[in-house]
Amino acid sequence: MNQTRIVVNREFTIGEIDPRLFGSFLEHLGRAVYEGIYEPGHPEADEEGFRRDVISLVRELGATVVRYPGGNFVSGYNWEDGVGPRTERPRRLDLAWRSVETNEVGLNEFVQWTRKAGVDPYLAVNLGTRGAEEALALVEYCNHPSGTSRSDLRAAHGFREPHGVKLWCLGNEMDGPWQIGHRTAHEYARVATETAKVMKWADPTIELVACGSSGRNMATFPEWEATVLDHTYEHVDYVSLHSYYGNRDNDLPAYLARSLDMDAFIRSVVSVADYVKARRRSAKTINLAFDEWNVWFHSNEQDRKIEPWSVAPPLLEDVYTHEDALLVGCLLITMLKHADRVKIACLAQLVNVIAPIMTVRGGLAWRQTIYYPFMHAASLARGTVLQTRVHCATYDTRDFGEVDLLESVAVHDPHEAVTTVFCVNRGREALSVDIDLGELGTEAKLLHTTLAHDDPKATNGPDGEQVAPAALKERMVTNGTVAVTLAGLSWNVLRVVPTR
Ligand code: AHR
Repeated sequence: MNQTRIVVNREFTIGEIDPRLFGSFLEHLGRAVYEGIYEPGHPEADEEGFRRDVISLVRELGATVVRYPGGNFVSGYNWEDGVGPRTERPRRLDLAWRSVETNEVGLNEFVQWTRKAGVDPYLAVNLGTRGAEEALALVEYCNHPSGTSRSDLRAAHGFREPHGVKLWCLGNEMDGPWQIGHRTAHEYARVATETAKVMKWADPTIELVACGSSGRNMATFPEWEATVLDHTYEHVDYVSLHSYYGNRDNDLPAYLARSLDMDAFIRSVVSVADYVKARRRSAKTINLAFDEWNVWFHSNEQDRKIEPWSVAPPLLEDVYTHEDALLVGCLLITMLKHADRVKIACLAQLVNVIAPIMTVRGGLAWRQTIYYPFMHAASLARGTVLQTRVHCATYDTRDFGEVDLLESVAVHDPHEAVTTVFCVNRGREALSVDIDLGELGTEAKLLHTTLAHDDPKATNGPDGEQVAPAALKERMVTNGTVAVTLAGLSWNVLRVVPTR
């Protein structure tokens, strides 16, 4: 094999990065809301009971939009239960997670929290047990200025100004038999169409996401997307994708290749959306919202032992390893490579539940390993994704054939004149890489940050971080080229910054 090489060319672009690619997700599930973002009585709690330490970690993470309130939870949820005086809010059974929901936090508290955390709300409507009527009422309550019973009710609840929620999803994973109110593609397509129509009639400025498949392995994929888009095409803006990964076989090379599954999923959904576009002779393009993605498997066994019907049980509390952070890096790179069509994505989830941020009740908030690649991409992947030519060695996998040892993507921020290459070395050996930047490398220096660890199973915790980024020595780019060494099993951020 010749020298590993990445060739970057500013003339060849893939697409603009939508900042909503770095969204996240907060569900009424486990300790995400209660003991996660909200813990009155905690030393860090503000006057509304929100943990300031969690808010500052969310801000540092750089999440842009946060999907709420579910997830599976939303398919049995009455949003009206969570507004108005707290003393009058009902306690309910949450059938999705076999827990008790106190409704102490609801829509208005969530919107207040988003303002504090510097993120935009992305709301899901219940199309499991409910339908167009309730979704319309919710849009009116949130976004209509005043003078109707629902908008005036919002004002009576203390929120005179409309919330102005711009992004909405039409239910959650309606293709899944585990979903409360699961539907066939045709049933969902009809209810989603009628719901979308009235939601947009109430507020034409909103954008809507239709439910795609809850995984590439669903038996109904991709016929589900074709049927749903056939009906909803002119009423929605995006179709959703969900995917979770895990190293269940403890096979690291195969695990790190799982981002190719995400790549194939995205390509297939783009094809189906464009097929429907062609069939309809439509001028409109449907883009993709990958609004649930992450690693999820560590907590599966322990969750089976949790007794049902308690408030905020510790569900889905995966503790992530260094190898999980590497896969998350590969998944981020994969979505960036599809920035022309993947406009929204939500790391599922945000706090305590399969999350980059964890909290100890009454104690500290801490960063998981996966926090770092997300933070780097959210803060530094700005501007345009560039096509690259990568020359590198490969390894053989059962599911994906030959897989590159080096996963990478380049982005160029024209405002800062900075080019950033994000890359993962999937192999155990260090990799020497030449980066050919052409004119982007004129009078420039390279800043290299890496996330590396000898032990792929290393984790972080409330007592300290084994896995944290390190800045390497700066170097000059000469004649448009720079050579770097990527440690074995590492995530890397290479910033090419002008010196003039
Ligand atoms: O994120 C956890 C769960 O995963 C969500 O509630 C559901 O949509 C998906 O199956």
